[in-house]
Amino acid sequence: MVHIVLGSDLAPERAADPALAHLLSQGRGSLAFLLGNAACRLRLLGGGIHWDRVLLAFDGEQAVGFAAFKHGRRGPFGLHWRPFLREFGVLSGAVRFVGFCLSELREWRYPFLLYGLRVDKAARNHGVGSALVQACCAHAASLGFAHIELEVPLDNPRARRLYLHNGFALRRKRWVPFPPVRGMWRVLP
Ligand SMILES: CC(C)(COP(=O)(O)OP(=O)(O)OC[C@H]1O[C@@H](n2cnc3c(N)ncnc32)[C@H](O)[C@@H]1OP(=O)(O)O)[C@@H](O)C(=O)NCCC(=O)NCCS
Repeated sequence: MVHIVLGSDLAPERAADPALAHLLSQGRGSLAFLLGNAACRLRLLGGGIHWDRVLLAFDGEQAVGFAAFKHGRRGPFGLHWRPFLREFGVLSGAVRFVGFCLSELREWRYPFLLYGLRVDKAARNHGVGSALVQACCAHAASLGFAHIELEVPLDNPRARRLYLHNGFALRRKRWVPFPPVRGMWRVLP
């Protein structure tokens, strides 16, 4: 049985567990062309995680998944340019950092965005993803938001199905082909 905790409610020594930052940096794979692989994303983003924007699913002591969200112009990752320059050098680092900022900026139009969702491979198909989505909706509702939005990649039918089964509806197809995502939303009680 998993239990779900807001990252900022964890005891400080538990939140400092590198496994949690590692889990979170598995996300944003669609930005690998800017942010590199998961190990690279951990070096770029792992030091500036906003734990008040992350729900973690624990099976016992082990974190098996997360849902990250964004509201009030604050998402799970802080925008820090230094790690980008360290990782890629001045020119490439600056370009990649600006690209990442633009992708973050684009999402700020959503009042409450379900920014990322991931479950460890070994824990999938046991309801953890759905539990995280429901917990995220409950969290948004508790903060007074009337609806929750997300963007699902066009090539991820599994995630799209999961969201549909959890009360989300598809938005109309976008005119702009990039990024290749489809908007979804759900009204909150
Ligand atoms: C998408 C993802 C988060 C789903 O996580 P999950 O924990 O497998 O999700 P669930 O277990 O709640 O649901 C998956 C399927 O298992 C089924 N299921 C749920 N509980 C179950 C249980 N107790 N026993 C058997 N099957 C179960 C669900 O019916 C669902 O199938 P359906 O979508 O056809 O209805 C996971 O596959 C993942 O991390 N993928 C990679 C990252 C990703 O794609 N993220 C989404 C980005 S938008």
